[in-house]
Amino acid sequence: MGSTRVESVGVVGGGVIGMSIAFELASEGIDVVVIDPAPGHGASWAAAGMLAPASEVAPGEERLLQDLADAAALWPSFAARVGEASGSVVEYRQTGSVLVGATPSDARDVTRTVKSLRSAGIVVEQLDGDELAEREPSLAASLRSAWLLPGDHSVDNRRLVAALLEALKALGVRIIEDRCSRVDLEPRGLRLGLERVGDVRCDVCVLATGATSPIAGTEALGLPVVRPVRGVTLRLGAVEGIAIPKGPIRALVNSAACYLVPREDGSIVIGATSEEQGHRAIALAGGVHRLLDAARLVFPGVDELSFDEASVGLRPATTDHLPFVGALRDERVIAAVGHYRNGVLLAPLAAATIATIVRRASCA
Ligand code: GLY
Repeated sequence: MGSTRVESVGVVGGGVIGMSIAFELASEGIDVVVIDPAPGHGASWAAAGMLAPASEVAPGEERLLQDLADAAALWPSFAARVGEASGSVVEYRQTGSVLVGATPSDARDVTRTVKSLRSAGIVVEQLDGDELAEREPSLAASLRSAWLLPGDHSVDNRRLVAALLEALKALGVRIIEDRCSRVDLEPRGLRLGLERVGDVRCDVCVLATGATSPIAGTEALGLPVVRPVRGVTLRLGAVEGIAIPKGPIRALVNSAACYLVPREDGSIVIGATSEEQGHRAIALAGGVHRLLDAARLVFPGVDELSFDEASVGLRPATTDHLPFVGALRDERVIAAVGHYRNGVLLAPLAAATIATIVRRASCA
């Protein structure tokens, strides 16, 4: 990056990752512009807001565990700082989540998962039937045992992205609702070509582009390949007199995983499908049906709640499912991509990492 002080950063992508990076950089006094046709929407809007440093890791992805734990440790202060800068509440809840298997065979699979979590050093507590009924009385009476993951938390991801937008405005960040279609690497800085608004110049740009296709001009920079993995979530609204789970529930139901994340207003988010169908952002009826069917076996109250929304997000997945956060071949272009299932959880860590890279570049 040379020895020039980094004064201006263009963040391409206004999802939770891009906005968190912009928040961190702007908090350090850097002039930041965020470019996104619909900031805060896409996968960050469709997400459920689970902050699950252990239970979202599939076999083979264990290298991610340390990052997830580090990110989880950043969350309390990140939530407080975003809340303070925006003047709003992001509904960060430290409840722990409950892990259950619906059938005897699911329960056996969950027990195996618990063993591997424990061998990775994750705290998991067993709950017997009485303890489960006391902790989560709205769950199906047929569930005889469960496991508590005290380290799993949640945030209302929609409140979070709204708060991040407010915080960015308060910090003087320019938000440009447009699509960046080109990055030109010029000797005296970068030129970001926007479709409608014209060019934006900056010293450094950060590509936080989620599952979108690579931008022209960046092809030779060594950006990892990112593919979209569609996830459908459902939002059920509160109905008076119907109790909902107190904290997030993760369930295995007839071998399929699903989760339920309650909000303080009595609504819940149910997730999520996992579909490799390219960039088509549609909710298929079959996926909605399967999610509802799985959720109601664990939490029968599903039937009594209001069906408000099915939303679709495209998770950005790299080949090895690990995120890439770092400078590319031209060090003025930095990428924060491939956060796959853990974008909301990893956002404060991605932001802190990018801030360190930019700070070091300024000191060089
Ligand atoms: N982290 C939740 C999901 O990817 O569905």
